[in-house]
Amino acid sequence: MFCNAHDGLMLSLYLLLCFAFQVLADSPWIDYPADGTATMTHYTIPDGFVAACGCNGDSTKYPTAAMSQMAYGSSNAFGPACGKCFNLTLLNSYTGSPPFLPSVVKSIVIKVTDLCPLSEAGWCSGTKTKKNPSGQFINFDLAYPSRAIPDDFFPSNESYYGYKDFGVWNITYQTVDCLKHWAGGRTPAALGSVTNLGNESVCCPANPTGNLNDTCPSYSDHNRLPPDTMTSYARMLAIPSTLVIIFVVAHLFQLE
Ligand SMILES: *[C@@H]1O[C@H](CO)[C@@H](O)[C@H](O)[C@H]1NC(C)=O
Ligand SMILES: *[C@@H]1O[C@H](CO)[C@@H](O)[C@H](O)[C@H]1NC(C)=O
Ligand SMILES: *[C@@H]1O[C@H](CO)[C@@H](O)[C@H](O)[C@H]1NC(C)=O
Ligand SMILES: *[C@@H]1O[C@H](CO)[C@@H](O)[C@H](O)[C@H]1NC(C)=O
Ligand SMILES: *[C@@H]1O[C@H](CO)[C@@H](O)[C@H](O)[C@H]1NC(C)=O
Repeated sequence: MFCNAHDGLMLSLYLLLCFAFQVLADSPWIDYPADGTATMTHYTIPDGFVAACGCNGDSTKYPTAAMSQMAYGSSNAFGPACGKCFNLTLLNSYTGSPPFLPSVVKSIVIKVTDLCPLSEAGWCSGTKTKKNPSGQFINFDLAYPSRAIPDDFFPSNESYYGYKDFGVWNITYQTVDCLKHWAGGRTPAALGSVTNLGNESVCCPANPTGNLNDTCPSYSDHNRLPPDTMTSYARMLAIPSTLVIIFVVAHLFQLE
């Protein structure tokens, strides 16, 4: 049997595995499914702003959002959600009375560039065991108004409710490929993280897939350095591509 340790080495390996599983099980972060339900709020960030993940300022030219802390995966700086893209679809708003059910289906693909701090009672208060006030574990805080999003993105019925902005929406989310579906996915200047803050406090992969080399660790847990996501846009202009090829080839042989 797997747990039948025959010698010291096996026993050590076994204990190590048990420890690893224990650490995973004890993780405070929400292990959410790729697709699900959540809430959406909105907040303002200045044009060109470098938010918690350290993504390049030009990311703000495209739709971005902050994710609630316990799903974001860190209480500080970058987390595993940094750079991830989600297709967010508005279902209804329930802050109005009666709840508002739009007659149109509105969706938007965002890239996560920021952290929505955990609070006691707000929309970003969801934890592994506690839902936010509308019964969801996850909240996406959309950067809006934004030059990337039409001003009439949120459906409304002003003549009936007397106001346009419901503030919070019931939504569904789907994890999507950033390069294919995010509006900034083909714009090098909008991808990656800034260089001037060093590599230990920024991490903004172009398209995180969950692999160690393209997904940020939790900054809070200090478990490892992030993959290098500093934008190579400027660096590539400075280094002739033949040199890059020579370096790569030399590196390959060195590994043999
Ligand atoms: C986003 O979701 C909407 C509604 O389900 C769907 O029509 C649209 O195709 C989706 N977009 C992507 C890129 O998955
Ligand atoms: C606004 O809401 C009222 C009451 O539900 C409804 O009669 C009206 O058709 C709505 N108007 C629009 C533009 O949705
Ligand atoms: C959110 O939408 C789902 C699907 O339509 C619905 O079952 C649920 O009651 C809604 N939640 C709220 C708080 O409106
Ligand atoms: C990460 O590793 C996988 C498998 O080794 C590779 O296919 C992929 O290109 C790597 N991604 C990055 C961003 O380095
Ligand atoms: C990040 O910085 C550390 C210390 O400054 C350095 O040792 C490491 O090589 C850097 N890693 C990358 C991927 O640039």
